[in-house]
Amino acid sequence: MKDKIKAISELVEQKLSEANDAASLENIRINYLGKKGELTSLLRELGKLSPEERPAMGQLVNEVKQRLEAELDQRKASIAKLELENKLKNEKIDVTLPAKEKKLGHIHPMNIVLREIEDIFKEMGFTIADGPEVELDYYNFEALNVPKDHPARDTQDTFYISDNVVLRTQTSPMQIRVMENNKPPIKIIAPGTVYRSDAMDATHSPVFHQIEGLVVDKGVTFADLKGTLETFARKLYGTDTGFRYRPHHFPFTEPSAEMDITCFNCHGEGCRLCKGEGYIEILGAGMVHPKVLETCGIDPNEYSGFAFGLGLERVVMRRYNIDDLRLFTENDVRFLKQF
Ligand code: DAH
Repeated sequence: MKDKIKAISELVEQKLSEANDAASLENIRINYLGKKGELTSLLRELGKLSPEERPAMGQLVNEVKQRLEAELDQRKASIAKLELENKLKNEKIDVTLPAKEKKLGHIHPMNIVLREIEDIFKEMGFTIADGPEVELDYYNFEALNVPKDHPARDTQDTFYISDNVVLRTQTSPMQIRVMENNKPPIKIIAPGTVYRSDAMDATHSPVFHQIEGLVVDKGVTFADLKGTLETFARKLYGTDTGFRYRPHHFPFTEPSAEMDITCFNCHGEGCRLCKGEGYIEILGAGMVHPKVLETCGIDPNEYSGFAFGLGLERVVMRRYNIDDLRLFTENDVRFLKQF
């Protein structure tokens, strides 16, 4: 029995020295020192010994058990200490490291300029109107004096949802929607997304943006149109901006014009940017056609108005010297973070 005790004792000591975590220590305790452990079961075998041997052997088993239990506790303590040290080492924070940069997003260049344009018009008393991009053919064409067989439809081919529903090709249908629902005086701008079945390249996209403007009141004249648009363009492009109007045709305005501003690169001299013209076209405009007013239940003998429309992409491209409008939608942060 003595040999057995010695063997168990040596085995336990070896296992203790090998154990390096709390779980394996607990296993050793259960297997050798616990209620059903090997050393404990030796105590039960004492009965087989002669009465003379029993006390000495019992004492020996108990001594060994106590010694091993003490060693186990010690080992437990040192492993716990080691684990704590490791934990602390792993959680150490180097306060001298540079902090991780927080990447904040920002406003898209298109929206930067749109907000600026909205602010300019708001200062002049305009409110902002919003309407559907999936639009009735009636609002997009018919009510704007473009019947089904009108040649102007060729230049604004679009995506048809059905015969009578289209993706709007212009923000001009907002003129009709606003006039149907409001009595003059009317003074709105309507920015929004428009669609045409154009192939995508550096200057064309099937999806782009326009800003529509509409003013209707008693006694509105072409002079009001000029005053409003020139005030707007001077705020956006600078007080030294010069203007030029070229006659044009839009079915829903009469007379109609395109407005040019002096090239901000050469100030009218002629350069590569303005293709030697000295001027750059920025918008279409005109006096609201009497037929359009009538369609909306506004008496053209009592009221008159002017309207204008400009393409937002072109304004933004000029502002930031961007030569490819695909950059606006590609979501390349190297492009976007420059603004
Ligand atoms: N809707 C026209 C276009 O997309 C632009 C335009 C021209 C709008 C003249 C107007 C206007 O309101 O009066 O080509």
